[in-house]
Amino acid sequence: MKIALGVTGGVAAYKAAELVRRLQQEKLDVQVVMTRAAQEFITPLMFAALTGQKVITDMFSAAGAAPANLESAIEHIAVAQRIDLLLVAPATADILGRFANGIAEDFLSTLYLATKAPVIVAPAMNVNMWEHAATQENLAKLRARGVHVVDPDEGYLACGMTGAGRLAATETIAREVCDVLGLRHDLAGHTVLVTAGPTCEDLDPVRFLTNRSSGKMGYALAEAARRRGAQVILISGPTELKIPESVDWIPVRTTEEMRRAVLDRAGSASMVIMAAAVSDYRPAAIHDRKLKRGEGHLTLELEATPDILKELSREKRGAILVGFAAETDRVAENAKDKLERKHADMIVANDVTQEGAGFDTDTNIVTMYSRDGREISLPKMDKFEVANRILDRVLEIHKQSK
Ligand code: CTP
Repeated sequence: MKIALGVTGGVAAYKAAELVRRLQQEKLDVQVVMTRAAQEFITPLMFAALTGQKVITDMFSAAGAAPANLESAIEHIAVAQRIDLLLVAPATADILGRFANGIAEDFLSTLYLATKAPVIVAPAMNVNMWEHAATQENLAKLRARGVHVVDPDEGYLACGMTGAGRLAATETIAREVCDVLGLRHDLAGHTVLVTAGPTCEDLDPVRFLTNRSSGKMGYALAEAARRRGAQVILISGPTELKIPESVDWIPVRTTEEMRRAVLDRAGSASMVIMAAAVSDYRPAAIHDRKLKRGEGHLTLELEATPDILKELSREKRGAILVGFAAETDRVAENAKDKLERKHADMIVANDVTQEGAGFDTDTNIVTMYSRDGREISLPKMDKFEVANRILDRVLEIHKQSK
């Protein structure tokens, strides 16, 4: 597979050399693209020597002296069509701004617009620049477009300050590349059933009870499991997300529909991950005509919905069962309680009041609680990366249970 590695101008540019080596170990063909600022920090010769390929350093010399055809003359289009992935590491605040706003004034930002390949950015910058609203808004825009962001680490920065902004470890970036390209096949042979999104409980023909779940975490899990070679069954409440390719997608609306779909299909699954935010209550009666406004208060009678996860664990089908707990307080206590009460193998908990962990965000901050007493807290990361970490842990538990 061929990837373009964009190197932009920051002190961390030197780390891109090590990254090239690491990506080559994955048998990836790496084409380096450097911005002008990057060349102030490290020379193109370094990358040419490592990759054995001409490094693309600017918009117009890239085409070469005597283009054989129009395509090679318009090099950014040709590169854009050839690559399976565009990775930018380190990515400066400047390049994130250009990507986010569609400014194509150099080769790299033009390549970003011209390619349909997936894109990963690994930002590195001064902590104040990282925390600036402009940078965070640009990142939010990129994430919403499906760009994968490998968040920087915290630590001592070249500018002398301490904080977030240090380029993520080479290994972390390489793992994200493998996950996005589907190079890890450790779930081959597994069937992973994922539930996602909210459920809706009708009150009358025009009104229903639901919750703020966007389905993003569940869809990220389905996508990550598929890329790692699993057969995926995605049972989804109503969401606005694109239906993922090559998964068995089963749309449902109510808790009862989700319950039936899960119980029908769980028999074939070796892992069941219940990321859906299932309604706990539903109207005791569904009115077949629209409820009319009356005098005074209206009292709704609600009844409990069946607990799908609990029912599944009672049936003991042998699959690893994972539940989610979206909490607003006493997160650890509630999560451990759910682990017991629902007889799950693992509960993935998040505090939805934390910034970057709530509903409809592209990132999440989770802690995984498992039966063996282990608690693994992950920092704020892209939901796709969280999904992969969850799958790593589920696979570990599956192996231990053998
Ligand atoms: N769940 C389920 N069936 C339900 C409700 C929840 O299978 N009727 C699953 C969810 O998909 C999730 C886990 O159980 O994986 C925890 O959901 P949550 O609503 O947090 O649990 P509850 O037991 O309903 O606890 P709470 O009182 O906090 O809502």
